[in-house]
This record gives sequence, structure tokens and C-alpha cells, in this order.
Amino acid sequence: MIVGYIQNAPRFGEKKANFEEVASLAKGLKADLLVLPELFATGYTFTSKEEALGLAETGDGPTTAFLRQLSLETGAVVVGGFIEQEKDRIYNSAIMMYGDKEIGTYRKIHLFNREKLWFSPGDKPLEVYQVKGMAIGMMICFDWFFPETARTLVLKGAQIIAHPSNLVMPYCQTAMVTRCLENRAFAITANRIGRETRGGDDFNFTGGSQLTGFDGTILSSAPLDKQYAKTIDIDIHNADNKLINPYNDLIGDRREDFYY
Ligand code: ACM
Repeated sequence: MIVGYIQNAPRFGEKKANFEEVASLAKGLKADLLVLPELFATGYTFTSKEEALGLAETGDGPTTAFLRQLSLETGAVVVGGFIEQEKDRIYNSAIMMYGDKEIGTYRKIHLFNREKLWFSPGDKPLEVYQVKGMAIGMMICFDWFFPETARTLVLKGAQIIAHPSNLVMPYCQTAMVTRCLENRAFAITANRIGRETRGGDDFNFTGGSQLTGFDGTILSSAPLDKQYAKTIDIDIHNADNKLINPYNDLIGDRREDFYY
């Protein structure tokens, strides 16, 4: 399977320009799975719920339309972040598109910092989707801090975790080595670059998007400060065998009776 990520530098509030930038980074790419950052078309650092609402989408909005087009052009299952509106609530969501079909959406369950002032916490179960011969789960950025997220996706059968991100703290890329090692699953952390200074926040987004292998090997690591797209060829079925030696099965050896 050819899988990869696109690392962009969103301009706050400029969806059309951000779509064009991502389209130019994806030009000529053919893949089976492509992951884009969290909130890749809107920017991240909101100053109020009203401001975020102004960039939110319901149902089949412009971000869905863009990702549909990207999927049709690249042949890939495409995952990317957007602001999802339902009635008076907004969610920090990711959507998975394949061709002209919406496969599913995920609403971030662990909101970071002031995201809690505008977004509602995710209210739908973590899901794994069987698409194009892959079992794909989604989680978003700060979900990495909660190992239960990746573990739940893997217990539900995920071979690969699509991880749209807007990282502002260190260690995620290092932690994803452990997330993959302890679950024997692949992960694609698609991060953004750039700086946003708005409403009292000053965020430097750390780039370094990463494709991590089922054995914790870093298969691809993006520059820290450049827009970038990368795909690599993986054997997704390496995630099916949870044995690390003849005696240790990472899932079968769990001692649930000892855990909280
Ligand atoms: C984050 O969850 N975007 C830090």
C-alpha cells in the first residue's frame, strides 16, 4: 500500500488559498491513503466560538468537496481535519473520503487547552473503517497523549491510524513510536507548520509529520519548517501479527483483570 501525508502551512481563515496550496503539494501524487493535518483549511488559533462557527461546515461543505476532488485525483483514501457544525455545537473533526463517498467522520475526544472554549468534546465512538484493503482508524492531535485512544482503535482492528495534527508541544513524534510499538500498528501523523499569534495565544506548529511503522521504526519524517508531501510503500498486513516473539502476543497477553 502506498501511504503518506501532506504537511501544509494554513493561512488563518483562508480556506480557498489553503485548498489551492494542498492541491499543489498533492500534484501528481498517486496513493492508497493520504492524511492531511487537523483543521488544514481554516487554521487553528480561534479567539471565540463565533469566529470558529464562521468557518464551520455542516454536511457536504467545501472541505468535503475539496477532499472528494483530492481523492478522485490521487486515487487515495483521504483524511483531513475540519470544523464540523451540528445545530449550535461545533466539533474539531476529521473526515475520511474515498472517491465520491464519505466513509466516516471522527470528532476529537480529547480537546487541548482553549479548544475547550469553542469545541464540544467528541460524542461518537472511535471507529475503524475497512476501505481499499486497509483497516483505518482516525484520531486527532492531542489524542496521542491518551494511549487508550490508539489502543481502542487497534482493539477494534485498526492496522493504520490516520492522525491529523496541529502539534505545538514536543514529544508527540517520539510518543508515536511507542504508540505503534505497543500496538503493532502503523500511524500517519500529518502535522502543519507556521505560527499563529491570535487572542493571547502564540503557537509555533512543529512540522515533522511522521509515518511510523508497526515495529516503531520511523519510516518517514518531514522537515520541521517546510511544506512537504511524502508517500511510501508499506505492507499493511505486518500490523496483523501481534506476536513479538513466540510467547508474547501484545493483545492476547493483556491482563485486563489487573487494569483500571
Ligand atoms: C492539538 O491538539 N492541536 C495540540
